[in-house]
Amino acid sequence: MDLRALDPVARRAALRARSIEIIRAGQAGTGAYIASPNFRTYHYCWLRDGSFIAYAMDRVGEHDSARAFHRWVDRTLRSVAHKVDRLEAKARAGEPIALSEWLHTRYTLDGREGSEDWSHFQLDGYGTWLWALCEHVGMTGETGLLEEFRPTVDLVVRYLSLFWDRPNYDCWEEHGDQVHPSTLACLYGGLKAIAAYRPDLDLEALCQAIRQYVLTHFVHGGRLTKFADGRSVDANLLWVAVPFGMLPPDDPVMQATVAELERRCVTGGVHRYPEDTYYGGGEWLLLTAWLGWYYARVGRRDRAWDLLRWVEDQADPEGNMPEQVCERANDPTMIQPWVERWGPVANPLLWSHAMYLVLLEELGG
Ligand code: BGC
Repeated sequence: MDLRALDPVARRAALRARSIEIIRAGQAGTGAYIASPNFRTYHYCWLRDGSFIAYAMDRVGEHDSARAFHRWVDRTLRSVAHKVDRLEAKARAGEPIALSEWLHTRYTLDGREGSEDWSHFQLDGYGTWLWALCEHVGMTGETGLLEEFRPTVDLVVRYLSLFWDRPNYDCWEEHGDQVHPSTLACLYGGLKAIAAYRPDLDLEALCQAIRQYVLTHFVHGGRLTKFADGRSVDANLLWVAVPFGMLPPDDPVMQATVAELERRCVTGGVHRYPEDTYYGGGEWLLLTAWLGWYYARVGRRDRAWDLLRWVEDQADPEGNMPEQVCERANDPTMIQPWVERWGPVANPLLWSHAMYLVLLEELGG
């Protein structure tokens, strides 16, 4: 049946159920979430996507799914823990570090490192994992997990403490020669969250240093910028406020940042950034839901509902939600080259479904 033929209320209920079903179907027995089942390049579990998906599953009460993901992360990172000793020794000796030596950004569903070349050095997913784990513990009261995962939590905290201000690839796996405010927001959010459960880690000074770094380098003309250039913008700047709380959502800097996003990244749905050409640089469902999440948090619920409806309108007849839609791409000439390289846009993308669920929960369904 074509879900688009249903009345809005029935369609919403169907899309909610379908989103949970797609996420469950995309969770391996190991607990890993595949980024997208129908897109070969995404047959891995990214810490970034996975952590937000686990958070969404917690928000809709699917705690066993989220717990299984966190156990997968724990097992996976235990198996690569020795790498951090080596990284620390190399860093202290001032030796260069190759891309594959860093902790990877994505793992196979059975928890191994992939063998393909990839922009592995991305810190954001590690911070986001700490945050999502603490959210899980907060929502379920399963504090025992923090004991069970203690060596892994300590490892991640050590890794982030050592390398937080090193240039690394952003959440779009680009610009590895820069430090990114959205990445620092993930680190801040994760370290703040774990600090509340683990005062022994003594993380307050580090959290304040990360926050100060962002305010010093990435606020220009009263708003946040993607780079330290004073002009650039990226929808991932939303993360500074929601969910990571480095600035309150109604802070004037956040308000000015969102106004700039509305001017330069929103054409109905939300583009990653104006210069994006990945599949032409289309409108991303997960970012559109994110902007809705932001508006819900500042009390602009009408705008949040509009964005939710926009996301719903992008689902296909079976209720699958793609990564992006390309009708209003930044650069339409760049759609076909990507289709030839990797096939049609990833659909369904589990992270899109996750952010839809988060916004729906935020608006009270
Ligand atoms: C995105 C990443 C994402 C990955 C898997 C990439 O195209 O830039 O943010 O983690 O796909 O969904």
